Amino acid sequence: MKSMTNSTDPIAPTLPLTHRPRRLRRTETLRRMVREHTLRVEDLIYPLFVMEGDNQKVEVSSMPGCYRYTLDLLLTEVRDAYTLGIGAIALFPLIADAQKDNAGTESYNPDGLIPRAVRAIKQAIPEILVITDVALDPYSSEGHDGIVEQGKILNDETVAVLAKQAIAHAIAGADFVAPSDMMDGRIGAIRQALDAVGWINVGILAYSAKYASAYYGPFRDALDSAPKFGDKKTYQMDAANAREAIKEVDLDIAEGADIIMVKPALAYLDIICQIKQHTHLPIAAYNVSGEYAMIKAAAANGWIDEKKVILETLTSMKRAGADLILTYFAKDVALILHPSKMLL
Ligand code: PBG
Repeated sequence: MKSMTNSTDPIAPTLPLTHRPRRLRRTETLRRMVREHTLRVEDLIYPLFVMEGDNQKVEVSSMPGCYRYTLDLLLTEVRDAYTLGIGAIALFPLIADAQKDNAGTESYNPDGLIPRAVRAIKQAIPEILVITDVALDPYSSEGHDGIVEQGKILNDETVAVLAKQAIAHAIAGADFVAPSDMMDGRIGAIRQALDAVGWINVGILAYSAKYASAYYGPFRDALDSAPKFGDKKTYQMDAANAREAIKEVDLDIAEGADIIMVKPALAYLDIICQIKQHTHLPIAAYNVSGEYAMIKAAAANGWIDEKKVILETLTSMKRAGADLILTYFAKDVALILHPSKMLL
């Protein structure tokens, strides 16, 4: 057979190329050396659902592999995550309908589910960073992130409740509060409220560019928190907007945000990239429930290689500029990156 590399072959002459980018892709060792971005376990924040009761974990049907945990079992899950090298968790509560009202009163109950969970985690695994979500939707009889009056979401009245919620979480021991509500002025109000009671070291992870997204569907199943009427478009952002994200980021920085978040992540990589050019604050990307569900569903059908798609997807977020990634895949990633931890 004729050699394929015969440079004298008139049909396949050696091209006079100055650059051959493929030289840098020749071996895995070389590829690793010139790799520009790396996904690390240290980058991950693990979102977890907590519910009342004892010794139960209930799988979220649209999020296979994700569970709502009672507090006792949550502690085991958090300990496992920490052992795998995951440094932070984000907590979300399932609240009974009987405890929900329009003003989200339960959200600032100092003995509510989240404050109890934070105290228990901080006692059992003090090293792990605990981030709490600040928003009314899990506590709202209307399923909205704010107080509803005549079909409208009130802004300033809601912010006052969010500040109380943040204080309740801080007193319980939260390291960061993460306002996910998208009310105007809430970062400043929460910063002032925390500082006024001396919680100057509690940080704010601001959901700055949070879009009105259909990718949140499975999360709302998990918490039974879907809006009872309408949608969230009067407070969450329009998917078509990019400059507006920069405006939201500027406001949150001016008001005292410590970390900026973009949410969802995958359909908004351009937003992450633009914000990265714009600020020196750390940027978090939220690999949301719908992104998780799509990978799980395709993998369950045998249509994609789950592990490879998880790594490729999360690496794309790092490449776009995310410093941190909230992901329901956190434990899977830890095990993929460090398989020896499996022995623990
Ligand atoms: C609530 C909140 C939502 C998510 C995080 N916090 C849902 C929403 O805004 O409707 C979504 C997370 C996910 O989909 O994984 N304010």
